[in-house]
Amino acid sequence: MDELESSELGTQTYWQEAYKKEIANFDEHGDPGDVWFGEDSACRVIDWICNCGVAKDTAIIDLGCGNGYTLQKLSEEGFSNLLGVDYCMEAITLAEKVSKEEFPDIKYKVFDITTGNLEDLGCKFGLVHDKGTYDAISLNPNNPKEQREKYIQQVVDMLDDKGLFVITSCNWTSDELVNQFSDRLRLRRVIPTPQFKFGGKVGSVVSSVVFEK
Ligand SMILES: C[S@@+](CC[C@H](N)C(=O)[O-])C[C@H]1O[C@@H](n2cnc3c(N)ncnc32)[C@H](O)[C@@H]1O
Repeated sequence: MDELESSELGTQTYWQEAYKKEIANFDEHGDPGDVWFGEDSACRVIDWICNCGVAKDTAIIDLGCGNGYTLQKLSEEGFSNLLGVDYCMEAITLAEKVSKEEFPDIKYKVFDITTGNLEDLGCKFGLVHDKGTYDAISLNPNNPKEQREKYIQQVVDMLDDKGLFVITSCNWTSDELVNQFSDRLRLRRVIPTPQFKFGGKVGSVVSSVVFEK
């Protein structure tokens, strides 16, 4: 399988600089920052999670949580056991600032998914969520295949038996995601996303796929 062409979005320096600016924006204007891939794609996933039968006290982790948007939405829906991790201290600082008033129960932690020790997370998870983080890891200029492999194994190891992994990507199609994860996880659902047709081929701008351990 071909790897993606590497990009600065695959480097930690890029995200550190981006979140430094977002912290300054939040401090100055109260702007919490980007919703990656737009609110519609986040809403589709949150709706699916709300209706899939997962208990409200299920341990949920958001990988590469950024400003914590997904966890804040899940908290609004009544989910109570929420942890966000990101390898940028700046992202965690921003997420904590944004969540502080309304969502004080969401926990955040600096953690690198590809190298972190899973015992530091304190438990296994009934639901693991990712929006855009596997994408960033896939763009790493240093051996992206190895980074992706490490990520996939960490996700498998942090899931409870029968736990769900919900991933949204704009770089990989749902078929490619199934191809990359289905050695170790079972496909549960491809969440329908709007499609476009060009030159006789049908495609989606983002793919959201659910796997089960
Ligand atoms: C495209 S942003 C998505 C942020 C957030 N998930 C969202 O949807 O708003 C990718 C995020 O992945 C984080 N990230 C990239 N590689 C990571 C790694 N190895 N471990 C933890 N976080 C990582 C970045 O710091 C960044 O916050």
